[in-house]
Amino acid sequence: MNSDFLVIGAGVAGLSFAIKAAEHGTVTVITKGELMNSNTAWAQGGISAVLPEGLRDPEDDCGKHIDDTLDAGAGLCDPEAVSIIIEEAAETIEELVDWGTNFDRDDENPERYSLGKEGGHSERRILHSKDTTGRAISEALIETAKAHPNITLLEHHYAIDLITSGKLGAVTDDRVLGAYVLEIDSDQVQIFHSPRVILATGGCGKTYLYTTNPDSATGDGLAMAWRAGATISNMEFIQFHPTCFYNPAAIGAEARSFLVSEAVRGEGAILINHEGREFTKDYDPRGSLAPRDIVARAIDSEIKKTGASCVFLDISPLGDHFIERFPFIHETLLSYGHNAMEKPIPVVPAAHYQCGGVETNIDGGTSIRGLYAIGEVAHTGLHGANRLASNSLLEGNVLARRALTEILHRYPLSKELPPEPTIPEWETGDTAPPEELVNIYHNWDELRRIMQDYVSIVRTDSRLLRASRRLVNLRKEVREFYWGHCLTPDILELRNLVTTASLIVDSALQRKESRGSHHTLDFPETKEEYARPTRLRRF
Ligand code: SIN
Repeated sequence: MNSDFLVIGAGVAGLSFAIKAAEHGTVTVITKGELMNSNTAWAQGGISAVLPEGLRDPEDDCGKHIDDTLDAGAGLCDPEAVSIIIEEAAETIEELVDWGTNFDRDDENPERYSLGKEGGHSERRILHSKDTTGRAISEALIETAKAHPNITLLEHHYAIDLITSGKLGAVTDDRVLGAYVLEIDSDQVQIFHSPRVILATGGCGKTYLYTTNPDSATGDGLAMAWRAGATISNMEFIQFHPTCFYNPAAIGAEARSFLVSEAVRGEGAILINHEGREFTKDYDPRGSLAPRDIVARAIDSEIKKTGASCVFLDISPLGDHFIERFPFIHETLLSYGHNAMEKPIPVVPAAHYQCGGVETNIDGGTSIRGLYAIGEVAHTGLHGANRLASNSLLEGNVLARRALTEILHRYPLSKELPPEPTIPEWETGDTAPPEELVNIYHNWDELRRIMQDYVSIVRTDSRLLRASRRLVNLRKEVREFYWGHCLTPDILELRNLVTTASLIVDSALQRKESRGSHHTLDFPETKEEYARPTRLRRF
């Protein structure tokens, strides 16, 4: 299969790129699952944006949004990336609305959007579509993409690895040539040729036992880019969301990963401990609405101090507004047997967002020519050591727009590219015997427990080293599976998860300080000499 642009991933970043690129050439979008299975589609809260005057809160401006982002990022944001992305937010909203997204309007003044608030934001600036904003955006983008004759959308297509000229032996001219892709239904591996490949595969929450992410978040793009030799940065900064529904009886990923949006706290809900006390004020004067790293650590500490299994989110200050503003959360909790109108919601922190990723410039360009990374898989410098809530859907769309402009400039479709070297066909291994498959599930579980137990909200070097040693063994076993057997999505995901987990641990071991979402008891202070990204490269 040949196309001018190959997009891997179908969240807000991948589809925004595809829709715009389709005006210039042919676009193939592949996703390993179904189109509505992305992290974007699961996003509840919303998208932050300082709108033009008259539409925004009169107290707000881009400068304040920039300051809030820099403050949450704990000294590690790239200020240029922050300004550029935040200043393009109004354009992003216009674009998403043009493509059919319906954001909620203000009841009293329907000319204006209703603006919400989340942790770390000094003003109300979050556009939302009730509490299913990600779903509203995804549906609009999928419909727009489906209607474009230049876009081919392929579900159940799993990108195994990037193909680069460097991997095929070129020494001086490393550029991307496409990807090997497993077509899950036919079990065939195909070569997808393209000189312009856009990784938009999302994050890696599934490296942890408890996460708010869908099952698809297995670090695929990050691991592929690593294997291809791209630079990876800041992977120690895994953001934990403070309020995942604590549901010990839950069966199934959706029930275990159910997020209670930070927007609920933005509307007035407060976190309390088992004695009913608003404990977060002990940790930060902003209490329940402090930036996420602070709130997640406060909960972790409270749980450890009191021996309780969870803390609680008290929505009573919202009254009936809770049902009206958060109908999805209310209904879903009811379906799990919890009525939030009667009892505070039991919550725990869970892995939520990858603040680092494939290192890119402000146009999504990576260290490999022709390879771009946008959305959660990328590290542009916007998030620093801790992402400000609701900045990620914004980043995904802005980077899609910027990456396209840059690609058209550097690799114009009118310009003839150097001839492509011969790409070898994929060699299929043996079929995995059923008893081997049991080992895969066991390894998957072990990996996620290692990360949860040793590489979580509060870390120490000795726990990180223990994780590192165990991951060495797991990597060896996974390599044996990978080369010894016919490929399945489970083997591929395990291979990517173990690579991603190792990158998180190796990055965390390099950072001898505490900053943002990396907190270690061995080095509790933030140190000026570490105010730079952690960078890893395979060769
Ligand atoms: C939430 O709704 O709390 C999540 C929003 C985000 O992670 O940006």
